[in-house]
Amino acid sequence: MKKDVFVQHRPEWKSRIGFLLAAIGSAVGLGNIWRFPYLCYKNGGGAFLIPYFIALLVVGIPIMVLEIGLGHKMRGAAPASFASVSKKWEWLGWWPVLLAMFGILLYYSVVVSWCVNYFFYAFNSSWTDSPNTFFYQKFLMLSEGGPFDLGNLRTPILFALLAVWIANWLIVFVGVQKGLERANKIFMPLLLILTAIIAIWSTQLPGAAKGIAVYLTPQFERLTDIEVWMDAFSQIFFSLSLGFGVMLAYASYLPRKSQIVKDAFTISIFNCMFSVFAGFGVFSVLGYMSNSTGKPISEVVKESIGLAFIVYPKAISSLPAFSREFGLIFFGILVIAGLSSAISILEAFASAVIDKFHYSRKIVVSVLSVLGFLGGIIFTTRAGLYWLDIADHFITHYGIIIAAIFECIVIGWVFKAEKLREHINHYSTWKLKKWWWDVSVKIIAPVVLTGILTSSLLEEISKPYGDYSRLATIVIGRDWLIFTLFFAIIVAVHEWKVEPKDRILTH
Ligand code: ALA
Repeated sequence: MKKDVFVQHRPEWKSRIGFLLAAIGSAVGLGNIWRFPYLCYKNGGGAFLIPYFIALLVVGIPIMVLEIGLGHKMRGAAPASFASVSKKWEWLGWWPVLLAMFGILLYYSVVVSWCVNYFFYAFNSSWTDSPNTFFYQKFLMLSEGGPFDLGNLRTPILFALLAVWIANWLIVFVGVQKGLERANKIFMPLLLILTAIIAIWSTQLPGAAKGIAVYLTPQFERLTDIEVWMDAFSQIFFSLSLGFGVMLAYASYLPRKSQIVKDAFTISIFNCMFSVFAGFGVFSVLGYMSNSTGKPISEVVKESIGLAFIVYPKAISSLPAFSREFGLIFFGILVIAGLSSAISILEAFASAVIDKFHYSRKIVVSVLSVLGFLGGIIFTTRAGLYWLDIADHFITHYGIIIAAIFECIVIGWVFKAEKLREHINHYSTWKLKKWWWDVSVKIIAPVVLTGILTSSLLEEISKPYGDYSRLATIVIGRDWLIFTLFFAIIVAVHEWKVEPKDRILTH
């Protein structure tokens, strides 16, 4: 009896499309428009698409099915879901949500706040004719002494960050249907229309074909570089919001009758098509820049992280007409895509806390928003970009991947993949096949991820990331992972108000 009462009291999406839009809203984000194109660019243009699609098929889709299926069955966020498998594994629910909330979301919101600033700069092309100098020296005022030379706070970024956190707070505060579902129903159609406008517009620019050729031409020799593979796999996790606890939390609000498999495929494929589509826009602009400056594409842009904030502004200023509109749409897209993902990460952590401690949503979301804003301040200092770069590298290349390996092993072998498959197939019209899904979750995904992780670790040891001091990568990178893991274990030891198993959906 208690079980049913508990299940009935969980918030639910109003409609299937509401869930789909929210999940797509989480997946489609800065990762598609800011991160994917620069990774593509950095890793040999078209060559990157090969490992990227392999990663989607080998780990992306199977783990998306796993997370949606598990959240649906356990009717809880990540910690409740893993605690229902066994209390021993509860930490595996806390670690990813902690990494996402107090790692990714902290810097992610700062990048959204850069986009807010650039949206306003787009009104009169404030970046002038030197976007590179503008971005590093005038906007970020990047310190010269490295990550520990913090300097002062950048107030334009700080104020925009406050606005971003107020938006995050407002949407998640009002709940699943009134907040998340309603916001995504506005954000997603708007995002699609604006992206279509800008991508089609970009492909019409003179020289666009040259950029698209670089985008689509595979440089096969790049495939021997382990970093290309690591970037592709971590990008799939980042972009699909997997290993963040987000899909688990979102799926926990699904009604009993749900199309788990179909929805998992729809979300994954839509997200990746969106990235590829956005890539056409970005590379068209690179081609256009190369055409108008007479320089090869490799010289047009030497940036990675700054691609959206340097090359795009440069291109926007040089457009023959409607350059202001182009800039406003581009940065508007980034803000919308970023917000719809940021709220999902906040929700994943909030629902985890609510599940376990039964505090009110309003209090949890308010406290988390204040902490999120305060935690983000470090990234608004003059050394913020260094912190962002190191934290992003360690969390996405190691934390999320390690959590995903454990996730596959625990669900595949401890809980048993066949048990979850039976649950999923009971509700879905598209049925999972043992030879594909069980094998992917139990063997292929963990083996491939472990292989990539090991090679990447070895590479990291021989050639530490970036040009940072050892101390910086240890403190900002490695220790962040260790600290969140330690904290995850402490929270996991704490008693539950209601046994997590009491919420499981049985049929
Ligand atoms: N999935 C989100 C993105 O790609 C985090 O930006």
